[in-house]
Amino acid sequence: MVRDLKADRFPLGARVRLADLAVDPYPIFAKLRAAEPVTWVPEIGRWFLTRRDDVLAVLRDPDLFTTDAPSTIHDMFGVHMMTTEGPTQVRYKRKCLPPFHAARLESASLPRLTAEVERLVRALGSGGRYAGEVRTEVARPVALHSVLSVLGIPLSEMGRVNEWYEHFARALANFADDPELRAAGKGAADAYGRALEPILEDLAREPDGSLLADLVCDRVDPLTAVEIRSNSLIILFGGIETTESMIANAVCAVLSHPEQLETARASPAALDLAIEETLRWEPAVQSAARHATRDTEIDGVRIAEGEVVHCMLGAANRDPAHFEDPDRFEVTRRNAGDHLSFAVGRHFCLGAPLARLETRVVLETLWARCPALRLDPDRPSAPYGYEFRKPKTLWVEWDV
Ligand code: HEM
Repeated sequence: MVRDLKADRFPLGARVRLADLAVDPYPIFAKLRAAEPVTWVPEIGRWFLTRRDDVLAVLRDPDLFTTDAPSTIHDMFGVHMMTTEGPTQVRYKRKCLPPFHAARLESASLPRLTAEVERLVRALGSGGRYAGEVRTEVARPVALHSVLSVLGIPLSEMGRVNEWYEHFARALANFADDPELRAAGKGAADAYGRALEPILEDLAREPDGSLLADLVCDRVDPLTAVEIRSNSLIILFGGIETTESMIANAVCAVLSHPEQLETARASPAALDLAIEETLRWEPAVQSAARHATRDTEIDGVRIAEGEVVHCMLGAANRDPAHFEDPDRFEVTRRNAGDHLSFAVGRHFCLGAPLARLETRVVLETLWARCPALRLDPDRPSAPYGYEFRKPKTLWVEWDV
């Protein structure tokens, strides 16, 4: 067996196990940040960065740390904004940005989103049962409904999209590189491509103001069919589990701090700040991966060309050099918005305004419809997962 020499140099990294990170990554991150902020994790053969400054430096330097390299997401979805850099990436992103602007979302998506959330929340309490499971019964369908609507994919496709999504998610969390999971992810992306063709034909005939309609009707500098497929795939993938998790983590965080509920609900601005704190405290996406384009150093540690660096966003969000008492959840934290949960730089999350809007509408609607909403003490919830992090179930109860 070949000995991993890096494992000798980074003893804390050598002890990192994904299974432990999935349960509670934060004490592990704290130890790494203090003693081995740039560390090698033999279990996945990649670097972990846990200090906020290092994460920022890497994400802001796409020439040295790129997404444009062989990766599962490239393999599955092809070339899209997340797997390119430079002018092509800027062009893709510019073409897809308009429907995600906060102002357009407020006018085009908010009424539909509010109606859908109200419908789902009402259904939670039906049948004389004043308890409900918020993740699968509210957060997941809201996330799916919203991203399909913005894209312009008919809601009748929800079932198939859900199935494809499960394959994508398993393939992407496949750090052990299981070829079957990889092939299933690719197969789902191909099935999506086939389903997209008639949808684009319909939208070209009858544009409906959605993103896909904008793209297929673009006469100035149109994306090719392949580019539309790959970019819409990353948007679809990016908008489902992430947002489901963000909503569930936000509900879980605020309800597990009942003493802060009144403060969070005091005004729209207070709620927005509280949502930023939930993003800082429990980010749905735990890492952003980059490939070194040449030999380099981070904090005196040599990184070789081609090696993969994982910027650990949840670790950066609890860096005491930037956030006071970082493990404390504090809805009035002034710099909560400095979290890196949507990353930074060229690949900053395209869907951040939509995800924030969805979370706000869910929290407001839950509070309006379910007085004295609280976590169900008999069915406890806790976020789980090393890459995508969310509670497996989120049972709540309330009085009517
Ligand atoms: C409607 C919801 C969402 C959509 C449509 C969406 C879509 C996207 C897309 C297309 C990108 C790639 C941007 C680029 O490469 O330029 C991206 C990046 C990213 N998104 Fe989202 N996203 C959504 C929600 C979320 C949520 C809720 C989170 C976590 C709280 C999140 C975290 C991220 C992160 C960390 C990146 C950067 C990854 C990297 O740089 O490696 N996203 N998102």
